[in-house]
Amino acid sequence: MRRWTSSPSRTRPVRPFPCRVTSAAIVNVTRTRPPVLTDKLQRPLRDLRISVTDRCNFRCVYCMPKDAFGRDHAFLGRDQLLSFEEIARLARIFSSLGVKKVRITGGEPLLRRDLERLVGMLASIPGLDLTMTTNGSLLAEKARALREAGLRRVTVSLDSLDDDVFRAMNDVDFPVERVLSGIEAAAQVGLAPIKINAVVKRGMNEHTLLPLARHFRGTGHVVRFIEYMDVGHSNGWRLDHVVPADEILSMIDAEMPIEPAEPSYRGEVASRWRYRDGSGEIGVIGSVTQPFCHGCSRARLSAEGQLFNCLFATSGQDLRGLLRGGGSDGDLAGAISGVWSGRQDRYSEIRSAQTAGPPRIEMSYLGG
Ligand SMILES: C[S@@+](CC[C@H](N)C(=O)[O-])C[C@H]1O[C@@H](n2cnc3c(N)ncnc32)[C@H](O)[C@@H]1O
Ligand code: SF4
Repeated sequence: MRRWTSSPSRTRPVRPFPCRVTSAAIVNVTRTRPPVLTDKLQRPLRDLRISVTDRCNFRCVYCMPKDAFGRDHAFLGRDQLLSFEEIARLARIFSSLGVKKVRITGGEPLLRRDLERLVGMLASIPGLDLTMTTNGSLLAEKARALREAGLRRVTVSLDSLDDDVFRAMNDVDFPVERVLSGIEAAAQVGLAPIKINAVVKRGMNEHTLLPLARHFRGTGHVVRFIEYMDVGHSNGWRLDHVVPADEILSMIDAEMPIEPAEPSYRGEVASRWRYRDGSGEIGVIGSVTQPFCHGCSRARLSAEGQLFNCLFATSGQDLRGLLRGGGSDGDLAGAISGVWSGRQDRYSEIRSAQTAGPPRIEMSYLGG
């Protein structure tokens, strides 16, 4: 295996956005060719993650620990959530600003009733690559309807094949078999290739990574190992709970030799590795030890219409107020452009072991 070397924190010259983007400017430009909207570090806006709910039926220890998300936790009310029509309208505007890929997420997106109706609305936007991240608990029942509505691919989170370990990590005693059935159902209806996300937490599941890789090797599904991140403020994150990407790769390579593969597209967060015997590939998302802020082209829309530039943001920009206050598409495009063009965050590249600062927004709210 070629040794992975951490990407240096690239500090690029900070250039101001070429002109202040007004809603009028965007409308004019889109008539001729789509504008390239970039932030202060010259990163284009290409991806949008849409959270459709802040609720979840799991209490993964690294995301929604039970002591912070107990029975009395105040989740968003129904009238606070963006309607499907509001989400689709915003998605069309994001698309006109250069977004090419939309990921539906949450919380657990499949808890949102009639989600396939939203999928249908988003799938009808020309040129959008539409996908979803789910914990897979409801996928067996919903895969066909999602596919028929126009969903193309799916990412399923699955931290371990060991039932005890999996139940301990989701912390609601959910059996691994049911997630595997969901993956099977998704594959059968063609929601492929399927990505399998496994968060690795030291002392919890690193001893089960090899069986996970073995299980999906040769199936066409791609397991992506994710370094445990310091998102939110309630998961009690510690640096020594992170299993570095290098260590994960060495573990895999020792049994199943791998070699690096080219990124599929600019800004891809997972580093890709293929098995030398041609039996497939894996990915590693080393957001702690190998930060990729310099290539981040991702905006996040919360379930109540707050726009965030960064997973580690401490505040967002309210789009729901504009939507419900009668704002035009041009007003909304102007607001989004203003937020993106002013962006200069690169949290992971400058994070310290202390991760001090104002409390960060939880990932289950923000949309992971
Ligand atoms: C917040 S979840 C939302 C979608 C869905 N509920 C699921 O679990 O797939 C999105 C992704 O974020 C990952 N995630 C959550 N907390 C994390 C953390 N602290 N570090 C790294 N990844 C995390 C999850 O494993 C999942 O793959
Ligand atoms: S990672 Fe996904 S499944 Fe787990 S608690 Fe967070 S939102 Fe729920």
